[in-house]
Amino acid sequence: MSIRFLKDKKRFIINTKSTTYAFDIVMDHYLYHIYYGKRTRELPDPAFRSVSFAPYLAGYDESRSPDVFPQECSFYGSGDFRPNALRLSSDGTGVSDFVYCSHRTFRGRASLDGLPCARADEQTQTLEVTLLDEVSGCRLKLYYTVFSSLDVITRYMVIENGGAGCVKIEKCMPLMLDLGRSDFDMISLYGSHCRELNFQRVALHHGTQSVYSKRGATSHQYNPFIALCDRNATDEKGEVYGFNFVYSGSFLDEVDVDQLGTTRVLIGLGSDCFSYTLGAGERFCSPEAVMTYSATGIGTMSRSFHRFVREHIMPPEALAPHPVVLNTWEACYFDIDAEKLIRFAKEAKQTGFDMLVMDDGWFGLRNNDRAGLGDWFENPAKFPNGLADFVGKIRAEGICFGIWVEPEMVNPDSDLYRAHPEWALRVEGREPLRSRHQLVLDMSNPAVLDYLIARFDETFRGIEIDYFKWDMNRHMSNAGSVVLPADRQGEVFFRYMKGVYRLLDWFATRFPNAVIESCSGGGGRYDLGMMQYGIQIWTSDNTNPYDRTMIQASAMLAYPAATMSCHVSNPHGDLRSLDYRYKVAVGGMLGYELNILEMSDEVKQTIAAQIAEYRGFEHIVCLGDYYSLAFPTKYPYSAYYYATAGAGELLLTVIEKSGCPKGSTKLLKLKKANPDATYVDVRTGKTYCGEELRAGIRVELSGERDQAHLYHLIQTSVIPGYENTTV
Ligand code: GLA
Repeated sequence: MSIRFLKDKKRFIINTKSTTYAFDIVMDHYLYHIYYGKRTRELPDPAFRSVSFAPYLAGYDESRSPDVFPQECSFYGSGDFRPNALRLSSDGTGVSDFVYCSHRTFRGRASLDGLPCARADEQTQTLEVTLLDEVSGCRLKLYYTVFSSLDVITRYMVIENGGAGCVKIEKCMPLMLDLGRSDFDMISLYGSHCRELNFQRVALHHGTQSVYSKRGATSHQYNPFIALCDRNATDEKGEVYGFNFVYSGSFLDEVDVDQLGTTRVLIGLGSDCFSYTLGAGERFCSPEAVMTYSATGIGTMSRSFHRFVREHIMPPEALAPHPVVLNTWEACYFDIDAEKLIRFAKEAKQTGFDMLVMDDGWFGLRNNDRAGLGDWFENPAKFPNGLADFVGKIRAEGICFGIWVEPEMVNPDSDLYRAHPEWALRVEGREPLRSRHQLVLDMSNPAVLDYLIARFDETFRGIEIDYFKWDMNRHMSNAGSVVLPADRQGEVFFRYMKGVYRLLDWFATRFPNAVIESCSGGGGRYDLGMMQYGIQIWTSDNTNPYDRTMIQASAMLAYPAATMSCHVSNPHGDLRSLDYRYKVAVGGMLGYELNILEMSDEVKQTIAAQIAEYRGFEHIVCLGDYYSLAFPTKYPYSAYYYATAGAGELLLTVIEKSGCPKGSTKLLKLKKANPDATYVDVRTGKTYCGEELRAGIRVELSGERDQAHLYHLIQTSVIPGYENTTV
């Protein structure tokens, strides 16, 4: 069992493969956090120290104040002045105090009332600890779900209103972790549209530091992933705590250093965009937050998260080969029609693509981004014989078919909005703000969901669709709903996300053979919630390979390459640029967006060769372990490699950034290589012994424009005919 309870000490111990997590019940009241770190048997006992101004229960003194010891969950107004995990009001004060009641452990996990969560396997176990707030009659259940072999523990909470009246949850942070020191660096990812996932690493300071979204989507601006690491931690050394949230809406990650120099981490829904009223007998289930610990640097944290996301978050089909798509967006924008796209399909098939994805522009009066969203039926001027006939013709070319949708949005210039202006989020008496000329549909309104389901069901009936690109191109302002009373408007953001997940579930059930690529103006919802539904996420609308190199390197800190959708965009027929863009894009799941009808035979042949080559190493990228060798914010180049389990195959990529100095030689150590094996680079036929790869492969940087180097190294014993090769 990875979860144990020591009765005499009233201690919970959770062991994973390499970590231990422990907490005690103290004073028959509080949950005292004892330890989270490297796996150990030597756990300390609770230590109490007296601090003045710290409030305490009758019969105790300052040393037993909830303000001064580490806890598992803390409650606003009950003596812990640090940022709290829960603010719950039964009487308008926001004060609650939950006391330990009971616990149980069980195999597997419980589901989360319509929210995405990590899938259990036969080893997964869960600890449920129940606490009671006598005054309100509410029960709080804290869940710890353990993925032992991956060193991941997830947490969420359930609140059950057992009282007679209503209670209001005003802040909800399902993951709280108190650490006994503050000499950490905090890593976070910030950005904006087209500049997502910039790496930031700064020392913690006293007070609260946070990343957050109040935008109704996780956002381009801050990603919910954060990490705390030793000040001198590197990829291979040092202690690292990693955190994330399985949710796609507004969130708050708070890190606070208190008066005693201890650190509190809180991950959750926050309070600005969240409140939730529970009537008598009702329950609320929070989204799930995720944590991992590594004693061996940032790289180990990333690999634990990668495996966790691949094996427990992404749908199983995401681990099969992904289709190499030709997407029409950057090639055509809104200028599409049946005749043109059938020609695209023909060329795409001949060039080796698996799928044509018809992007924006096919529905309503969608000739630009000012109109049409919400009118989900094909534009008869563009598809004179209907969608079914068109898709039939695409498929007759021997290629699969994908289609773009943005279900959560509406243009004021649309039939839908003219018929139902009240279906857009808005606040009575205030003019709704527009963004990209569009408004957000109220996904918390069941009538909106019913409409969308009926509309898509009808439009796509009898049409074989293999792929949906699910977009979301603005954030939420004026987030009010006509279906909620004034005192429940704070629920809109959360109910909206539950509506989106319900619609995603409907798509998954209604189109069981179709996969989803999710997107929000590129990487605006690059999160574990969306990763549960799609085989990949469009990482950024920015396909410039220099910028992409940075974006992709940061994405790999927390998310596996299997989810990273990377397209080669229009190279204007420049073969060197095409090669460079390809070598950048194969860091993730390869696709293209270019006007295939305008490409020379030479370009098409090059693309065909690229797709064929990618097919030979795609499995290493999709399923392999990732090792960063040179992070591009620190070096004038980016270098990393993927290794299959057992390191029978390695894929090394070196991308020279613009302005990379000429002529220097880099020694890149592929420490995962098997020392006694011989490897052959199937691109050049050159052989290497494993020991040599471990000591370092020499790569000369050219310093010229658009240069990148790719090595696909296969252990010769794995290749028929090469078994006896020696170097
Ligand atoms: C967003 C997406 C693009 C494209 C356009 C279409 O910006 O990120 O890839 O689909 O919308 O309007």
